[in-house]
Amino acid sequence: MYQPVKIAPSILSADFLSMGNDIACIERAGAGYVHVDVMDGHFVPNLSMGVPLVKQLAKATSLPLDVHLMVSNPLDQIPWFAQAGASSLTVHAEVLYGDALVQAVRMIHEAGCKAAVSLKPKTPVQTLLPVLGDVDMVLIMSVEPGFSGQSYIEGSEGRVAEVVSLARAMGASPLIQVDGGIGEATAPKVAREGADVLVCGNAVFAAEDPACALRAVQAAAESARMQALGSE
Ligand code: DX5
Ligand code: ZN
Repeated sequence: MYQPVKIAPSILSADFLSMGNDIACIERAGAGYVHVDVMDGHFVPNLSMGVPLVKQLAKATSLPLDVHLMVSNPLDQIPWFAQAGASSLTVHAEVLYGDALVQAVRMIHEAGCKAAVSLKPKTPVQTLLPVLGDVDMVLIMSVEPGFSGQSYIEGSEGRVAEVVSLARAMGASPLIQVDGGIGEATAPKVAREGADVLVCGNAVFAAEDPACALRAVQAAAESARMQALGSE
């Protein structure tokens, strides 16, 4: 069944002192997920949020919690976040050497969550090959991970296209998520190439009217995708 492009607002850009209101607002505006950026101050320079917040979020929203683990030791962290109520867990391929990437995806599935693998902007897309047939989602970073509010790295849409064709060639169709600098101007570029889920931090939460901003990004992405499908 056809699924429209979904927006996953990143609460890294939300107001931490009124998180409940921000979550209620994106729920009403039609968000597809709540994107939770977990940073360990080691894999990325920043420290952000962890298990206690995910537990509270799980009680506060019916939206799926899309947990992006920017940590150096994902294998240790997977069980904690799965138990806390994550719906999907995204690990970074850059810290999962050899069999560890396959092991991480298996562990996430065994913990009852959807599994996603993320690539930083300079990591070759072929890194995904051992797990591309098994993951539920691939996350293409369109900024260097660590901070919200950065500018989209031009050309990231080409990496979306590459992953789509690699996956197709092996008969797989994971969702493709893009994260970093996505807003009304950049969403169409990645949606046209096959992105299904768009993470938006500042484009939603720094907007004067976050609900309106969310809908505008979703509409811009969906219309670009429709045009691309029409010309295929
Ligand atoms: C960056 C995070 C992103 C970030 C997105 O490391 O993974 O999810 O919050 O923020 P924007 O949309 O503002 O680039
Ligand atoms: Zn993220």
